[in-house]
Amino acid sequence: MFPNKDTARYELERANTLNPGPWTAHSQNVASAAKRIAQACGTLDGDKAFVLGLLHDIGRRTGIAAAWHMIDGYDYAMSKGWDEVARVCLTHSFPVKDIDADIGKKDITQAQYDFIRKYLSEIEYDDYDKLIILCDALADANGFCILEKRFIDTTRRYGIYPFSVDRWNKTYEYKAYFEQRIGKSVYALLPNIAECIYR
Ligand SMILES: [Fe+2]
Repeated sequence: MFPNKDTARYELERANTLNPGPWTAHSQNVASAAKRIAQACGTLDGDKAFVLGLLHDIGRRTGIAAAWHMIDGYDYAMSKGWDEVARVCLTHSFPVKDIDADIGKKDITQAQYDFIRKYLSEIEYDDYDKLIILCDALADANGFCILEKRFIDTTRRYGIYPFSVDRWNKTYEYKAYFEQRIGKSVYALLPNIAECIYR
């Protein structure tokens, strides 16, 4: 289950009044990238991809947080009955499907940590999990960007971890996975992406 586009837009707008920040523009750009790539695949639901992209960071509605934003997003989406949104609220932070491969501050309880570990261990990533992980790395608040730019940007903010390169490699793997399906570079689907080198 996931909400329609209007409801998702309303949720993001409301979240932006609670905790204004560049994260909402980033979410809109992730949604746009996800829709474009999903539609180019032909077999994915573009509206679903758009809505999941729009709401993947909805846990940021309650303030600045690291791991907490995943749990908060998951709980909020589940409270609305949007289990497919709840899922990407958790999975988008883990290109490597392992809770110990997270780069954020561990600002959650042991019980929440155990919950995420169990949740990740019991699922296989589907196309939407992979798509939102990829698109999270293809868009910042100003527009679309190449993976390398986003990786460096994130690493400068969060620091370098032993598994940083594994996370990058997984994201490249998802990029290749979708490019194999659409028959061209995902960058070719994202307008003005070249501008990212100037900002
Ligand atoms: Fe994000």
